[in-house]
Amino acid sequence: MTLQIWDDFPHIQKELVPLTPYLLKAAQIKQSAVNQRVQALIQNGGKLVRAGLFYLFSEFGTKSDQARLQAGAAAIELLHLATLIHDDVIDQAAERRHTATVQTSVGNRNAVYAGDLLFTLYFDQVLRSAETFADIDTNVKAMHGILAGELDQYDLNYQLNETVAQYLREIEGKTAKLFALACAQGAKLAHADEIIVETGEQIGRSLGLAYQILDDILDYTGSEASIRKPILQDIQNGIYTLPLLFTLEAQPEATRAFLSKKTRLTTAELHELQQLVIASGGVAQAQTMANELTDQALLDIQTLPESRARADLEKLTRRLLKRQK
Ligand code: IPE
Ligand code: IPE
Ligand code: MG
Ligand code: MG
Repeated sequence: MTLQIWDDFPHIQKELVPLTPYLLKAAQIKQSAVNQRVQALIQNGGKLVRAGLFYLFSEFGTKSDQARLQAGAAAIELLHLATLIHDDVIDQAAERRHTATVQTSVGNRNAVYAGDLLFTLYFDQVLRSAETFADIDTNVKAMHGILAGELDQYDLNYQLNETVAQYLREIEGKTAKLFALACAQGAKLAHADEIIVETGEQIGRSLGLAYQILDDILDYTGSEASIRKPILQDIQNGIYTLPLLFTLEAQPEATRAFLSKKTRLTTAELHELQQLVIASGGVAQAQTMANELTDQALLDIQTLPESRARADLEKLTRRLLKRQK
């Protein structure tokens, strides 16, 4: 499953295959129980979407220092993994990538420190990949933006009057910033023109927003088997995402009646609410917004120099919009 998206992009897959062993080595933690969980998360494989985008954008550059690029790609995935470990503590999620989350196995305290530790390992890789202080500064700012987005999400917890604009601002931080970083750093570390780095940041932003909206849609329409993490958990945790926000607009009374139960929502009620979100058009409206963001990314992609990388980026962008996991 890990690299399935990349099957049609053999030259990217060629870079991603050795990335997993590299990550396993880069993420060694002394404490054995924690180490075992972190290694399992890496071994079970994420989709490596961000690392793949990083490598795709590196193809717009003129220089290919493999070791530097590998460290750059690893940095992005380690930052991603650290935020996921913390996210699972906050969301009290039991499973990720078909394996028990860190905190389920070794407790919240260890999971928080494990995530923190991964942040330092991320910076280890940043130092191996960066050529200038500006590269490091870019990473500091991106990490800041991601964490600020997470704090925004916490602020909006159980807020029935959360707006679409607030939701977009929150996912812009927690998800789009990392996608933007991946695209821009891939181009930058391969010495692409400044305009490509900037366009990459823009494209990464749109792709990241669309990606998170799809992730939020899959929380309603996916199955636990396919997305490899629990579904319908966001609602119980007071995280009201785009499909639900549209449902709150379309069917305020019925939706509020469910949500007022907060953590007391039963499994049966959760499934009723899930059906309401689908029937009221909440999922469809969210999908429309993901389509629009994807169209924006496609427009920006057209401004890049014509090349195999551009054609691949366009193909990948269309494919990401249709993903089911
Ligand atoms: C999960 O990201 C968190 C989101 C921003 C949606 P992915 O779905 O890319 O997670 P992995 O790396 O493939 O497990
Ligand atoms: C993405 O949000 C989390 C981060 C960007 C850290 P979600 O809470 O939707 O991610 P999943 O669904 O748990 O993977
Ligand atoms: Mg989560
Ligand atoms: Mg999610």
